[in-house]
Amino acid sequence: RDPEEEEAEEEEEKKEEEEARLCLCCRKPDEPPLIKGWIPFIGKALEFGKDAHGFLEKHKRKYGDVFTVQIAGKYMTFIMNPLLYPSIIKQGRQLDFHEFTDKVAPVTFGYPPVLGNTFHGLWEQIKRSFQLLQGDHLEPLTESMMGNLMLVFRQDHLDRAGDWRSGGLYEFCSSVMFEATFLTIYGKPASGVRHRGMDDLRRDFNKFDSMFPFLIAQIPIWLLGRTKAIRQKLISYFLPQKMSRWSNTSQFIQRRSELFEQHDKLKDVDKAAHHFAILWASVGNTLPATFWATYFLVSQPQALKVVRQEILDVLRDDGVEFDASRDVLLSKEQLDKLIFLESSINESLRLSSASMNIRVAQEDFSLRLDNDRSVGVRKGDVIALYPQSLHLDPEIYEEPQTFRFDRFVQDGREKTDFFKDGQKLRYYLMPFGSGSSMCPGRYFAINEIKQFVSLLLLYFDLQLEDGQNRPRLDSSRAGLGILLPSSDVRFRYRLRAD
Ligand code: HEM
Repeated sequence: RDPEEEEAEEEEEKKEEEEARLCLCCRKPDEPPLIKGWIPFIGKALEFGKDAHGFLEKHKRKYGDVFTVQIAGKYMTFIMNPLLYPSIIKQGRQLDFHEFTDKVAPVTFGYPPVLGNTFHGLWEQIKRSFQLLQGDHLEPLTESMMGNLMLVFRQDHLDRAGDWRSGGLYEFCSSVMFEATFLTIYGKPASGVRHRGMDDLRRDFNKFDSMFPFLIAQIPIWLLGRTKAIRQKLISYFLPQKMSRWSNTSQFIQRRSELFEQHDKLKDVDKAAHHFAILWASVGNTLPATFWATYFLVSQPQALKVVRQEILDVLRDDGVEFDASRDVLLSKEQLDKLIFLESSINESLRLSSASMNIRVAQEDFSLRLDNDRSVGVRKGDVIALYPQSLHLDPEIYEEPQTFRFDRFVQDGREKTDFFKDGQKLRYYLMPFGSGSSMCPGRYFAINEIKQFVSLLLLYFDLQLEDGQNRPRLDSSRAGLGILLPSSDVRFRYRLRAD
């Protein structure tokens, strides 16, 4: 690079550093350093959007583990030391999550805000419905998912013996998981066992998904080309008169439909928009997560072999000899025993997740970080955790960019002790968020990924095609969940002979 350019940049950075520390005209002494952008409103949004992880690491090196950044008009205080996470996560009263979701989710998915007086009690009812994704309810969901995965595999991929077939791995994983998850959550069509138009629905979903970061950033939908029309089409898939004809609908969706009926002010299209939001929640992250887990295993044949053997052993322990001509059934208890598979999935989540945990300060207060440190926070400020920096910290995870399928196994059990500065971390893997806003679908998500990978490994030989390198992470969704690969990977698969 031009030395003059470099010098100018260094000069700019020095100025910024000074300003951040000394900006006492607008900062109180106990407040963290403030990093402002050059353009007042957009602040650091552009730089952050390009490479959030790199941006935060760079500022951590300069300002320490707590600093405030002005991003798109908001003041966001980042807590970069995972040893401080517990004190943020337990702060329920003064740091709220829902104010943020109720502002952002309605404009993104197209339903009216839920909090407030219009839909009295709806928020609490929706929250309660999340229980239907967990505990005892997980068993029927898992059983139904198994049947639906088997159905899609059988009809689309298990029909030709012997020959190698090739395709895009992302396309393969997402087409199977999208449809099987859809059938499990929303149920089967009025006639037949598979909904018509699934590929079109997924194509529209992908188009919407590519605009998702802009919608979350509150860019008006009319500025986003055809996004509004596509969202309308997706929403119309879930109109109550259509959904009422579907059978085997999960209890979770049934309950939500019932409670929407109790609110006269919710129009049919609003109810449908709520159902559509659940489609995004249930596949938006699961599809890329499934891809990464599968990709890493296929790219490491030795790891794949161990995981495949583990699945066969768990079946054998229960008296089942795998036979490719018959459907296989893995119960929730059997899935729980697959610790190498679980470790592989956790490892791929570690490498691909970039979600941001956000809380909004409800009042001016002093936020206690640890025994001898507090920082001043103002009402409306955002406090953010960015666990990708913990996931990729070489002090916590040796060679953090390397996929080690057994990283989360120790002495034949799940490994849970990871350290920073010699102290055991309470939070070391956070793809599903934290505290009161933690993903309610996390157990189901892990189970369905386990089921998908198990079926793939049991029924197929799998290879990457020559010259297929590890794809880069597409950072356009940084802050919002599991990152997509920047390009698909070509692979080969054929039915296993034994
Ligand atoms: C690998 C797959 C998944 C990942 C990584 C994931 C991640 C997340 C994250 C990070 C959040 C926000 C939490 C926060 O900000 O603290 C969330 C919320 C949510 N997730 Fe998931 N999720 C996954 C799969 C699922 C599935 C399969 C379902 C449902 C079937 C689901 C349902 C939800 C719902 C309903 C919320 C909103 C919760 C609320 O408003 O309090 N997720 N998820």
